Amino acid sequence: MENFTFYAPTYFAFGKDTENDTGKYVKRFGGSRVLLHYGGGSVIRSGLLDRVKKSLDGEGVSYVELGGVKPNPRSGLVYEGIDLCRKEKVDFVLAVGGGSTIDSAKAIAAGAVYDGDFWDYYEGKLVEEALPIGTVITISAAGSEGSPDSVITKEEGMFKRGATGEAFRPKFTIMNPALTQTLPAYQTACGITDIMAHLYERYLTNTEEVEVTDRMIEGLLLTMIHEGPRVIADPDNYQARANIMWAGMMAHNNSCGVGRTQDWTSHNIEHELSALYDCAHGAGLAVVMPAVFTYTLEHNVMRFAQAAVRVWGCQMDFADPKRTALEGIEALRNFLISIGMPKNFAELGAKEEDIEKLAHTCCYGDVNTGTVEGFATLDQKDVENIYKL
Ligand code: NZQ
Ligand code: ZN
Repeated sequence: MENFTFYAPTYFAFGKDTENDTGKYVKRFGGSRVLLHYGGGSVIRSGLLDRVKKSLDGEGVSYVELGGVKPNPRSGLVYEGIDLCRKEKVDFVLAVGGGSTIDSAKAIAAGAVYDGDFWDYYEGKLVEEALPIGTVITISAAGSEGSPDSVITKEEGMFKRGATGEAFRPKFTIMNPALTQTLPAYQTACGITDIMAHLYERYLTNTEEVEVTDRMIEGLLLTMIHEGPRVIADPDNYQARANIMWAGMMAHNNSCGVGRTQDWTSHNIEHELSALYDCAHGAGLAVVMPAVFTYTLEHNVMRFAQAAVRVWGCQMDFADPKRTALEGIEALRNFLISIGMPKNFAELGAKEEDIEKLAHTCCYGDVNTGTVEGFATLDQKDVENIYKL
């Protein structure tokens, strides 16, 4: 295990009706004038936004509203939010919605107290200062409710980049699993896939002797394999949704990722797809992950074989561990298809003629190294091959 520091100070309120305490938590964490940020309308239709407003009113907390966050949130609305925060002297940003709304709220919170262009953070500047952020989550997926990360799509050029920093960890997060019961099955499945990707991308490490985090990840993956199909079959299953919601937070607040190198190849390769084609992040991952894993298998066959045995219940073939490893990847692919995820490029709406451009942006857009550094090191040609797979 490698040296690490870990500080994850988000306050979690978990369970039924917890959204009715939003005002109380905003006040506890110093908010008096709030930017209430939300997406395309699901929180209006479900009545959640009204309940949150009532709770803010009850505590005498005033607010201004900014809705309209799109999935794969855009830079344009972030600039609008920053202007609004400054004009209205906002001192707290409250996201009510999914990962896209939370990530947009984080970008606004950082931009509102920064003299330069907020996009600097998405080009590698560490986020050290931001307005305090609170979240009421409505989908178990991105894990942004407990993570120090945010992902935004730059509208000029339509590419996605992430920013990170401790100031991005929410002060509080309200998690009522019942709020996810209004999700369409497809979005629920996208969330399940994203959570599993956050686990896999930590599992694929080059660090030796990380038994505790290996076992935590395996346990969370087994939970997803058990609860995922239950919730797809019965969307109102509160207990299954509760387990998935907490697993989603655990998968990405990095408690399972400390002390080990991590992968993130599948995320980097996927982000170009959801930016260009506006597909759901989880759907993109369902297609990308099995391809990346198959392509990078030789880098450490035993790691994939271990996942196959411990997570998917495959029989270890000691004479041919590669066979076991491939069986595990196939089990993952079949699982994702069984919950309704797309299985190839075409089903995502992606086009073969874009492959070179996608691979180029992936390798040269973020850092100018020409490679994707993760579990294995890949260059543009490798990334093209993965998109083709
Ligand atoms: O916009 P509304 O109307 O709210 O509808 C949303 C949206 O259309 C809908 N939805 C959410 N909760 C609902 C609901 N519909 C009915 N009932 C509910 N309870 O679902 C759609 C998707 O929402 P979105 O917020 O986009 O989903 P998700 O949480 O999967 O977030 C995806 C974004 O997170 C980024 C992704 O790149 C993507 O942009 N990620 C952020 C990370 C982070 N900050 O740590 C890490 C992740 O790896 C990921 O990259
Ligand atoms: Zn993700």
